[in-house]
Amino acid sequence: MDPNTNKPETIAAQALGWVDHETRAITPPIHVSTTYLRDPDNQYRSGRAYARADNPAFDQAEAVIASLEQGAHAALFASGMAAATAVFQALAPGDHVLAPKVMYWSLRNWLMNFATHWGLQVELIDMTDPRIVQSALRPGKTRLVWVETPANPLWSITDIAATAVLCKAAGARLAVDSTVATPVFTRPLTLGADLVMHAATKYLNGHSDLLAGVLVTREDDDFWRHIRGVRAYVGGTLGSFESWLLLRGLRTLYLRVRAASSAAQRIAEHFAPHALVREVLYPGLRQSQGHEIARRQMQGGFGAMLSIRVQGGEAAAIATAANVQLWKRATSLGGTESLIEHRASVEGAGTPAPADLLRLSVGIEDCGDLIADLEQALAGALR
Ligand SMILES: Cc1ncc(COP(=O)(O)O)c(C=O)c1O
Repeated sequence: MDPNTNKPETIAAQALGWVDHETRAITPPIHVSTTYLRDPDNQYRSGRAYARADNPAFDQAEAVIASLEQGAHAALFASGMAAATAVFQALAPGDHVLAPKVMYWSLRNWLMNFATHWGLQVELIDMTDPRIVQSALRPGKTRLVWVETPANPLWSITDIAATAVLCKAAGARLAVDSTVATPVFTRPLTLGADLVMHAATKYLNGHSDLLAGVLVTREDDDFWRHIRGVRAYVGGTLGSFESWLLLRGLRTLYLRVRAASSAAQRIAEHFAPHALVREVLYPGLRQSQGHEIARRQMQGGFGAMLSIRVQGGEAAAIATAANVQLWKRATSLGGTESLIEHRASVEGAGTPAPADLLRLSVGIEDCGDLIADLEQALAGALR
């Protein structure tokens, strides 16, 4: 029986049913060798020569993630940024790319300050409006459209299927940063995207204890080989131990992400009508931007990231974060522990985050405890 035909929960929990044929171990070993033996006739029949290009420690995690995303292949990278930038580095100088105005700020900064230096023409647009996407696409010139959905830090939603149709007509590839949606809720390749990217640092690993990135391709084509070449030459390669930890984290992906997402929904619904809260940004709320699209392209939940805009402006938001006892005041997302941060302080000038916005990454603690802690933090700040 092909393990890829099992339900995704089964694929993740059993890491595609891996068993070592020699030892009968059900957990893969950690391969640490950086180099591989050449055959006497000067060939490398093992398919491996040097660990900057590839490593057997990647095999199982890449196979599991490719299967969950229903892609042809996956490639692990040393971080989410290493994975994302490899896609842009596989383009040629002069290529036109579209990216969202609202997106993960480090990648936006890299696009505007580094990618442009080596000749990419980067245009930031409102990716949530297909009419704007259509008019920004330059057929024959636009090579890549980058989408993040839900997008940091406003959790705006882009319609992947509609964007894919526009990209196809213009001859552009569509890549989706699906870090927040995770394969639990969205599979962008099945909606017409060409590439999916995850900061595996977040939900795929899920324990705030490693940096990793992953790309998944719909097709094993020349562009994919180019991306793998970028990994091998530039060296944004994941370590063996991190690959092993990532595979361990993946086994509980569905349990963790579903629990965190249903807690986020409860927290969003609790604070949306709250007297001390100006607005809750969460795609699972009926009144939120893109809710109808999210209902279509996110199956079973809306993710575990939300933002709250506090009454009383920036000072009240920072004071609320200062008052929490249980939530951890820290950046990042996707771990078992809930995190809170004043996002405008992190992103600095040019941020789309309003000054009164607190970004919340909901973990898997008791939801009542999380709500009670936020209640007391808000009450203390706005007394
Ligand atoms: C949506 C998103 N994409 C990409 C990244 C970059 O990932 P990494 O920090 O692993 O480089 C992050 C990190 O916060 C992120 O939130």
